[in-house]
Amino acid sequence: MDIDWENLGFKFRPTRSNIRFHYADGKWDDGKLSNSYEITISIAANALHYGQAIFEGGKAFRCKDGKIRIFRPEANGERMNSSARHLLMPEFPVEKFVEAVRTVVRDNEDYVPPYGTGGALYIRPVMFGTTPQIGVGASLEYELIIMVVPVGAYYKGGIKPVDAMISRDYDRAAPHGTGHIKAAGNYAASLISSKQAKDHHCPVALFLDPATHTYIDEFGTSNFLAITRDGKYVTSLSDSILPSITNNSLMTIAADLGMTVERRKIKATELADFAEVAACGTAVVLTPVGRIFDGDTVYDYHLTEIGPVLKRLYDEMTGIQHGERPDRHGWLVEA
Ligand code: PLP
Ligand code: COI
Repeated sequence: MDIDWENLGFKFRPTRSNIRFHYADGKWDDGKLSNSYEITISIAANALHYGQAIFEGGKAFRCKDGKIRIFRPEANGERMNSSARHLLMPEFPVEKFVEAVRTVVRDNEDYVPPYGTGGALYIRPVMFGTTPQIGVGASLEYELIIMVVPVGAYYKGGIKPVDAMISRDYDRAAPHGTGHIKAAGNYAASLISSKQAKDHHCPVALFLDPATHTYIDEFGTSNFLAITRDGKYVTSLSDSILPSITNNSLMTIAADLGMTVERRKIKATELADFAEVAACGTAVVLTPVGRIFDGDTVYDYHLTEIGPVLKRLYDEMTGIQHGERPDRHGWLVEA
């Protein structure tokens, strides 16, 4: 294998295998590993026309002791089921999900980036409806595929600050819509805002609550969090954002470190008051935000590197993930 572990970036590359499950006649089969990266489905498959498609994102790490550990896979299994319920797709037993993740990670053991490279094996489950349909309705058959990809930093430069732009022309989610689940369509809906942001040299788009455009929701691929000048951890409370497993873990770590944690509505105008701002998620980990552009207004956090409070949280989080610091909450599952 010829992989440049230090410069993986975040892009697709095939590995040895993925694991596949099929749902028909009201039940999931026992699944099997596949070496193929292709699927054959009907041109009328539900997912292609009517969008019954959901996904998840997790990571496995090569730890200091050489073992491979997966970060909170049962949380991904539970969230996938919450996405499934909302789109009338079948739930998948969480225990079976965790076992499937362990199986596919083990089978691709040599694709887990070595300890010390900063890389991880990204775990990407995807579930979609395959029944051929012309009338709108829920699919009868589904496929769940869990693939794995070795990855490095999501944004160029690792945890260097990125600039963000508030999306004023478009929303990614609707009030009472699908913003709180990991529906594939949410990402299609966010592309136009991401393009606008990138056209303004900002790698990230920041979305406001779709009902009033007053409060901060989240970034296109991650949750929003900020550190106040008096050292509190603040993150958005909204029913149109994805409940991030990373954010949940960071809130727990922050509380463990004695910080006050506030999950509340955050006015966009409060951006002027924060000491540090970041994006958090499986792919972006904890990426500091240097500046936020909102029309002619610029919020500048004057960062050249990650700020001191976020750095503490980042070190603790990545330390736990790599088996360097105690896993007090039992988040890691051996592959
Ligand atoms: N918000 C959105 C829209 C996402 O796509 C993601 C990525 O999964 C997150 C937040 C972060 O969630 P997690 O920490 O579970 O990866
Ligand atoms: C993740 O962080 O796992 C995500 O799913 C975000 C993304 C790459 C869409």
